[in-house]
Amino acid sequence: DWTAGNIIDDAIERVRQQVGEDEVLLGLSGGVDSSVVAALLHKAIGDRLTCVFVDNGLLRQGEGDQVMATFAKHMGVRVIRVDAEDVFLSRLAGVTDPEQKRKIIGNTFIDVFDAEAAKLKNVQWLAQGTIYPDVIESAGAATGKAHVIKSHHNVGGLPADMKLKLVEPLRELFKDEVRKVGLELGLPADMVYRHPFPGPGLGVRILGEVKKDYADLLRPADHIFIEELRAHDLYDKVSQAFAVFLPVKSVGVTGDGRRYEYVIALRAVETIDFMTARWAHLPYDFLDLVSRRIINEIEGISRVTYDISGKPPATIEWE
Ligand code: XMP
Repeated sequence: DWTAGNIIDDAIERVRQQVGEDEVLLGLSGGVDSSVVAALLHKAIGDRLTCVFVDNGLLRQGEGDQVMATFAKHMGVRVIRVDAEDVFLSRLAGVTDPEQKRKIIGNTFIDVFDAEAAKLKNVQWLAQGTIYPDVIESAGAATGKAHVIKSHHNVGGLPADMKLKLVEPLRELFKDEVRKVGLELGLPADMVYRHPFPGPGLGVRILGEVKKDYADLLRPADHIFIEELRAHDLYDKVSQAFAVFLPVKSVGVTGDGRRYEYVIALRAVETIDFMTARWAHLPYDFLDLVSRRIINEIEGISRVTYDISGKPPATIEWE
């Protein structure tokens, strides 16, 4: 019968059989699936697992440090953090089309990851956080996995002489099972129950051209929103929530001064399958508090709006 413990014992046994004494590489994103794979493989093969965590400069506030603290520091997993912000941002400079941005971010991820992988001469296996829904539907975006599926298809893009074989220990599990396994392996609950975050990260939440200045305004706004959702016990009541940066300026007043700054849109949705969604009817008092905090605390933001579009016709992300 199904218990997280049984599943883990079974998965560990199979991984050990599969990879033997070989070394395994994992692209760790900080998302639920790759995090659970990291914890599982670490338990199965210890330091024969090497994780590569690519910081693309499009992560949320404190996210990179959090990943390193959880895995490298607390669990003793070998994690190589690649600071690739400059590469990503320079390749994105001047690009405004959403699909082109997605492609550039995906391809740059593969380039950076491959370059790092090529340095690891002894690795024979590539681990992936593929879960059962990814296997049955190629519509990966529905589970927030388009990016992984894309890089999966690009395994052939790894240096030819590496010839990595795939190990996918979550292939038979549904999302809720993956979460239970993660908890049982000791991952923090707030990591295991995180909202989905798209592979292109803040790259698709900064409308139009992606700039570091914009990301630096978006990060604290998003952080305030998420922090208040948690503080008001609303985080787990919505399926996904985030802030979006709008590169338009709007007039405001502060004291006797006039401001002319950027706009933040807040988005929160309720959904079962992410294929359709309704906007979350968050309390007005709560939205009021978040709006005030963002405008008061972030110089450079003068207006906050709340997105009341359903999916369809709108998508959850703005790009
Ligand atoms: P949309 O915006 O299409 O999003 O309504 C549905 C779900 O998929 C996530 N999403 C992505 N995930 N790469 C990903 O890994 C992507 O390019 C991508 N685009 C959207 C989105 O966050 C939501 O959970």
